[in-house]
Amino acid sequence: MDTNAVLYQDLEKILVTREEIAKSVKELGQKLTEKFRGESPVFICILKGASVFFTDLIREIDVPLTTDFMVVSSYGSSTKTTGVVKIVKDLDKPVVGKHVVLVEDIVDSGMTLSYLKKVFANREAASVSIVTLLDKPARRRVELNVDYSCFNIPDAFVVGYGLDYDEKYRNLPDIGVLHPRIYEN
Ligand code: IMP
Ligand code: MG
Repeated sequence: MDTNAVLYQDLEKILVTREEIAKSVKELGQKLTEKFRGESPVFICILKGASVFFTDLIREIDVPLTTDFMVVSSYGSSTKTTGVVKIVKDLDKPVVGKHVVLVEDIVDSGMTLSYLKKVFANREAASVSIVTLLDKPARRRVELNVDYSCFNIPDAFVVGYGLDYDEKYRNLPDIGVLHPRIYEN
């Protein structure tokens, strides 16, 4: 997509380019291939934000993994967390005894993943690892151990490569800071 295209006009700036994303996702895929060599982990995509990252990432991993999908809600159309996490769509298969890898788009307050980690521990997963494309450590409200993160970013509201504002901008190939004029007023 041309960076002069319509969607780019709502960005303040591009934060992470598609080339930087591709390089980092490839490196992460190699690390996860090493980590899970000889295993068959289940990679869980936290919809919808992680969908683009997830489909790129699993194709860089060379172990016989399986996939499953979950929809959780913690945000409405605003840019701030509500603090409430709800499972809107659960997994298709049980995870008892499985190595579970939760794949998220971004860790912000950390509340979504700290809640999900507990859920999977209760479901008797063999292990639960957390993989995120982006991490905003400055905004953490609960303690959370993130196992793999591609990029640490500053405290700004970002969109693109799966991340949305009010369900839009997921189809931007790069990650950018949304111009505040879009959500202020
Ligand atoms: P947490 O529970 O506060 O860590 O929130 C994680 C979720 O909030 C992510 O999965 C995103 O859906 C959403 N989120 C947090 N920050 C941003 C952002 O900058 N852009 C888009 N979505 C975000
Ligand atoms: Mg979202």
